[in-house]
Parts: sequence; C-alpha cells; structure tokens
Amino acid sequence: MNSLQTNIIYNEDCIAGMRKISDGSIDLVITDPPFAIDFSPKRSNYNRIAGRVLTGYNEISANRYYDFSLQWMKQVYRVLKDSGSMFVFSGWNNLKDILNTLDILGFITVNHIIWKYQFGVVTKRKFVTSHYHCLYVCKNDAKRKFFPYVRFKKNERKTNGGSFHYEDKEDVWFIKREYWSGDQKTPTKLPAEIIKKILQYTSEENDAILDPFLGSGQVVVVCKQMHRRYIGFEIVKEYYEFAKERLENGKYRIKSNETAFSEIGQPVLFDR
Ligand SMILES: C[S@@+](CC[C@H](N)C(=O)[O-])C[C@H]1O[C@@H](n2cnc3c(N)ncnc32)[C@H](O)[C@@H]1O
Repeated sequence: MNSLQTNIIYNEDCIAGMRKISDGSIDLVITDPPFAIDFSPKRSNYNRIAGRVLTGYNEISANRYYDFSLQWMKQVYRVLKDSGSMFVFSGWNNLKDILNTLDILGFITVNHIIWKYQFGVVTKRKFVTSHYHCLYVCKNDAKRKFFPYVRFKKNERKTNGGSFHYEDKEDVWFIKREYWSGDQKTPTKLPAEIIKKILQYTSEENDAILDPFLGSGQVVVVCKQMHRRYIGFEIVKEYYEFAKERLENGKYRIKSNETAFSEIGQPVLFDR
C-alpha cells in the first residue's frame, strides 16, 4: 500500500484516513481525542465570545467511546514504527476507556503524566478540575526514543542546587493554557509549550508525527516550526480549514473579523 504523504493534513474521518497510512511508518503520535462529555463549544460553560469560536466540534457519545477508542487506537498501533510512541490526552471522565483500550491493544505504558493548568470551572459542590491526563505509551520499551538532556544539561543546576533536568522530567507538568483574546479559535486547544516539550524529548528532526484529531492544528503547526514531518486528520471542515490556513500562512494566531464584542472578563474553562 502507498502511504499518505506527510506535510499534508486531511479533512476526513481519522479511522478511514489512517487506513491509508502504511504499517510501521510513523515515529510519534500526539493527540487529544474528543471527550465524550456531550461537549458543545458554544455552551455557557465556555465563557468566551461565541462568535469567535468556530462551530462544528465532532463529539462522540459516552456509550460509543470505548468502541471508538478501540477503532482509532488500533490504527495508531498498526501505523507506528516499533520504535514509535504515542502521547494521548484525556480528561478523567472517560479515562477508563482510554486505559482499557491501550491495554487491550498491547501498548506499553511508559508514564502517566498529569498536566496541571492554571484554573478550571468554578464549582460549588465539588472540587475544581484543573488537570488533564496524558498517557505516554509505546510499542517496544527497548526501542522507543527518549532524549533526557535535550532541554537541560545533565549538570545544569538552579541557584538552590536543584537539578533543572530532573524537575523538567517529573511527571506533573505545570503548563498554562493559551488564551487567544480577540482571535479566531477552536473551542479547545493544547498549548504549544506542551507539544514542544513532547517533541523535544521523544522525536528528532524529520521524524513523521501524526495527530488523528487536529482541532485547531496545534500539533502540526508546532511540528512544522520544529522541522518534523507531520500528517493529521480533522473531520470538521471549518476546523480543518482553520488549521490549514495557519499552516500555509505560517500564522500562529489568526485575527477574527468579529469586532462587535469584547472578551468577557477572565476566561473560564469548561470542565473536561
Ligand atoms: C479535543 S479536539 C483536538 C484539539 C487539538 N488538540 C488542538 O490543540 O486544537 C478533538 C478534535 O477531533 C475532531 N474529531 C472528532 N472525531 C473525529 C474523527 N473521527 N476523525 C477526525 N477528527 C475527529 C473534533 O472535531 C475536534 O476538533
């Protein structure tokens, strides 16, 4: 089978799209699948000017989530090289389905990372969710790539004597979400910093990186900046076009035409 070309993104269902990628041709997958929490990008829990938030988010129902996860991850397992790995983000709501699917397909868990972001939805009767899970998994633990001193040298010390590389490699990551006030956006996106960190530790220039669920295209935009080859899928046309425009014009953020409203107060995140 001829593999799909890299450095292209596709407006199609990722399960159908990945079937066209050759076995063992991808170095790394970084992805943030839909949440299965009946998420609607314009609901009031998303305290932003709805007009700037692109519509159409393709949600999966909770009762289909396990089966859906099995289908897309099966393709990921097939297209990954033996030395390949995957970082899959998940809220806590459907984490069990993601963990069970990874196990059933034979992925080996390398780390269970917690991404702590700055603030979540204010709650009255429960604790505020302000973290996200990121499962770092691979096919073959002996063959996977990991570059431990790529961001900080082995002997680089802080003024208090602490080790920079140790702290950077702890499995709780404090990384701020990005707020694109006044610009066009999709309802949810990964911060560039988190993608950059993953790419630096686990890939090299020219590696082939796949994101089956592009959304705004953050993963592929950062891959392009960091000289990785990329390939990705997004089922919603409007999001796909937004990601494509960002890639083609080399624009990280795109100004919105929406001028009638101003951003309301502090951004409040939805509860994933
Ligand atoms: C959580 S978002 C990804 C956000 C992305 N990481 C970013 O930084 O912008 C999940 C995306 O997957 C898309 N999606 C859902 N089902 C899909 C499918 N079967 N194939 C391709 N894309 C799909 C949704 O429309 C949504 O844009």
